[in-house]
Amino acid sequence: MKMLDGGRPLAGRRIIVTAGPTAEPIDPVRVLTNRSSGRQGYAIADALARLGAEVTLVSGPTALDAPSGVRRVSVETAQEMLEAVRAALPAEAAVCVAAVSDWRPDEVFGIKLKKGKDGPPTLRLVENPDILAELSAAGPGRPRLVVGFAAETNDVELHARAKLARKGCDWIIANDVSEPGVMGGSDNAVMIITRDHVERWERAPKDEVAGRIAARIAEALG
Ligand code: CTP
Ligand code: CA
Repeated sequence: MKMLDGGRPLAGRRIIVTAGPTAEPIDPVRVLTNRSSGRQGYAIADALARLGAEVTLVSGPTALDAPSGVRRVSVETAQEMLEAVRAALPAEAAVCVAAVSDWRPDEVFGIKLKKGKDGPPTLRLVENPDILAELSAAGPGRPRLVVGFAAETNDVELHARAKLARKGCDWIIANDVSEPGVMGGSDNAVMIITRDHVERWERAPKDEVAGRIAARIAEALG
């Protein structure tokens, strides 16, 4: 019934989007985090919702409002993000845009650390769960389309290909964050890498890139 779609080809499709940084507590006032405005992930969630998708946006701390028609679940840490993603399954597609902290302090201090005669504290880090890799793992609950992002600074395609293979996802959308104005800025220049195909897109505003990604996802889900 394409006629009734009204330009909403993703009507009724559940899609998970992760966005923003995660923040891993050190003590009650300090965190370990990544640079990420959340803008690209929010723009993708918005674009998918405009095409009719039922979007769950699992977001780390950002300064952004939830796009209209999107269900936002706010989290702080990578472990909370993973739990929220699991709770949002099943879904037909998942788009992992979050800048997840690769590590967290192995111990969270219950009271504020103070400067003092002992000098700076030594933090021991442990690795966080890989949300994209878990979503990509084969199994009955796997979304049909799992998309990862890769922010790289050199030999973008090579690193992105390696990431696609390592994570087991279906597409990697790679961007060169050494390009001036991309990190925290309003533009993005991306490359879409699938197992048998690479495409380079012209630099464009993040919401335009998001619109193209959403349209491509709608095409892939059919
Ligand atoms: N990702 C994730 N969970 C993690 C780390 C990364 O879901 N713990 C996702 C990101 O959301 C992104 C993709 O994996 O979609 C690639 O993230 P990136 O940091 O580039 O990859 P890593 O495997 O962490 O490799 P690197 O050592 O380059 O940081
Ligand atoms: Ca990483």
